[in-house]
Amino acid sequence: MNKIVYSATLAFLAATAAAPALAQGQINIICSAQAEGCNMMGTVYTRITGVKVNMSLKGSGEALAQLMAEKENPKTDLWYGGTGDPHMQAAELGLSTEYKSAMLPQLYPWAQQQAQQSGYKTVGIYSGPLGFGYNTELVAKKKLSIPKTWADLLKPEYKGDIQVANPASSGTAYTMIATLVQLMGEDKAFDYLKGLHKNISQYTRTGVGPIKAVARGETAVSISFVHDAPGEKMQGFPVETMTPTEGTGAEIGSMSLVKGARNLEAAKKFYDWALTPAAQELAVAAKQFQLPSNKSTKLDERMPDFKKIKFINYDYAKYGASAERRRLIARWEKEVNSLPR
Ligand code: G6P
Repeated sequence: MNKIVYSATLAFLAATAAAPALAQGQINIICSAQAEGCNMMGTVYTRITGVKVNMSLKGSGEALAQLMAEKENPKTDLWYGGTGDPHMQAAELGLSTEYKSAMLPQLYPWAQQQAQQSGYKTVGIYSGPLGFGYNTELVAKKKLSIPKTWADLLKPEYKGDIQVANPASSGTAYTMIATLVQLMGEDKAFDYLKGLHKNISQYTRTGVGPIKAVARGETAVSISFVHDAPGEKMQGFPVETMTPTEGTGAEIGSMSLVKGARNLEAAKKFYDWALTPAAQELAVAAKQFQLPSNKSTKLDERMPDFKKIKFINYDYAKYGASAERRRLIARWEKEVNSLPR
């Protein structure tokens, strides 16, 4: 008995004595991009610096909820990736901390604007357009037309054949709601979402779920970021994308340092590195095809061609405001998600 207490005490002393050294050598990251991209960043960073990276994967909305829950005692040091709106909300709620990286001047204006509008509490790391994914084989087999407009998605032919994520957990789905509100005006956008609801087979937890379902032939159409398609195509799946002719929104994938982070200095070094061309070029190796934020990062022809897409002038400050995001998601839950299909 005494022996057990003695060895437990020794183990505890050893652990606490080792803690400060360990704490300097690790970072806890929540990653809201795709698993392959997140793991690639973590693995390569550990290989080149020796710093241990604890990576936890969570959709943008879920990540924000976790940071809110941890506010008094943060366990996370850095939030990497995911759509920009919840990062803006985190900034407003005091969950992230101001940091002006020396890398900022190297970034495209849209990435720098994300930093300025948040009081330098977040920064743009990539961008990508919202659109539709479709399974070419399934569309042909079911004799469906290829959706080209938002209006097309309301056609009864797609009943039970469209997937999109749930906006409470997914930033992709919130980007869709904010895009429609900006495109149509709020009441018309909610009428549209109620119509769309009739055709939805499933609201998934993460934004990438629907295009993976399209790729595997589980559903014909998805509302997705178009840069999520090339990775599926590379695995041999028959998936193509379209951006709606009425206009669409783009995400500014973002990165934030957590306020009160235990490993803040180590996290700042990762943050600076994540803004370098060398780090951003890892994305393609992990089959991720967003437009990177550093102007010198090499582009890949599989990345979406922004010049060919009709964009709305997405108001990132307005739709990233805490009250607005909460209100729109609550309205969607009440007026849309509660309806029978
Ligand atoms: C995918 C995309 C990212 C995007 C993320 C949002 O991983 O590749 O560009 O930021 O989805 O995820 P969420 O689950 O929050 O919609």
